[in-house]
Amino acid sequence: MAPKHQAPRGTRDLLPQEIARWQWAEEKARGVLDRYGYREIRTPIFEDYELFARTSGESSDVVQKEMYRFSDLKGRDLALRPENTAGVCRAYLEHGMAGQGRIHRLWYMGPMFRYGRPQKGRYRQFFQIGAELIGVDAPAADVEMIALFVDLFEAWGFGDLTVAINSLGTAETRRAYGDKLRAWLAPVHERLSADSKGRLETNPLRVLDSKDPGDVALIGGADQALGPLPRMLDVLDADSRAHWDQVLAGLDASGIPWEIDHGLVRGLDYYTRTTFEVHDRSLGAAQSALGGGGRYDGLIEALGGPSTPGVGFSIGLDRTVLVLEQRGLEAASAPLDAFVVSMETTRAAALDLVRALRREFRVDFDLEARGFGAQMKAAGKSGARRMVLLGEDEWRRGEVVVKDLASGVQETIPRERLIETLRGSAPAKEEGKEVRTS
Ligand code: HAM
Repeated sequence: MAPKHQAPRGTRDLLPQEIARWQWAEEKARGVLDRYGYREIRTPIFEDYELFARTSGESSDVVQKEMYRFSDLKGRDLALRPENTAGVCRAYLEHGMAGQGRIHRLWYMGPMFRYGRPQKGRYRQFFQIGAELIGVDAPAADVEMIALFVDLFEAWGFGDLTVAINSLGTAETRRAYGDKLRAWLAPVHERLSADSKGRLETNPLRVLDSKDPGDVALIGGADQALGPLPRMLDVLDADSRAHWDQVLAGLDASGIPWEIDHGLVRGLDYYTRTTFEVHDRSLGAAQSALGGGGRYDGLIEALGGPSTPGVGFSIGLDRTVLVLEQRGLEAASAPLDAFVVSMETTRAAALDLVRALRREFRVDFDLEARGFGAQMKAAGKSGARRMVLLGEDEWRRGEVVVKDLASGVQETIPRERLIETLRGSAPAKEEGKEVRTS
């Protein structure tokens, strides 16, 4: 019989056996972010609806079709966050972070919500890890961001990624590009979806990330009526061009492989100049982006703050973990250090001992206080490195029996030597997770 309640469509439970892989990925990421000097920030998972509408763009899919918008009991207009750059910039302004230093390097991790059509790699609740560098407009900031982006993937064992990159220039560039796009699409205008026709008037760039299959076929080059996609790089202003050249030179100097993608306009409206993404085709074209980001020099000002540059990215953890799994990453939970077996007469002592040992070791025992044989069996099945046996006579003499469950070697030792003995058998704590990437 199907259970009465199921997780809402597009959400999933991450069960303990999957969590090991997630935790491994998160720990690796924390290490990289820390070495780059980024500090964690945690913002609410819901914000004023207006914050997202203003920054992601009224005509973006995220705002028009995918927002979890709701009113609370006082009628406030709120939304579950579809992304976190707006929230971070809101917090930056709200806490006057500009007065606490010129440059802020921030990172975050957590759930985001978008009401899309769920499929493999696309969920309504999904997790992102992201970083934002606020306060620097120099091209070196873009290069640092892309290096951090690539190094996170490298730490997860992706040694073979090429970053797709483009520049969206300034608002003026995008207006000029919009005109080019309209002219380019004129021959097929009638065949575009109603949404795209509307957007061509209000926000032409959004037509490029239409998910309508007809639009995708037209724009993706399947239609012979269209020549090559117009290039934003051809209409860049001189300053954005110089910035672009320096970003590419910086990427080359840092040994980061890149390729230009003229169609990379991103799905959110706040981008200026550099945009970038990485893809893994194994997930299917519509959800192949493992992560993406770019510069957003107008966002903080749009929120009512002073003109402040920013650049950042987010990586979709669900997709990344899926690909890691496909590539054979195995993450096993650390084995138990010890399983404590006791007799009727030493049970009380065992409770005390287990609690003491758990301050340092991973320890289990038989909660049901079953017979000696059942406990021995449970110890064997537990995968523990050692069994610690509290025999009545030994315990009275101040001794315990320690058996190495792999080799079967058993010794009787004074109680005081137990911790030292377990330390000897315990793996170094950093190796607590055994993970292999191939
Ligand atoms: P985004 O490209 O919208 O950018 O999302 C980043 C990543 O989140 C995507 O590349 C993808 O891996 C993952 N993602 C997005 N939607 C879903 C979904 N429905 N299911 C699973 N994964 C998904 C941003 O969110 C920007 N805030 C990035 C940024 C930061 N730009 C500047 N700073």
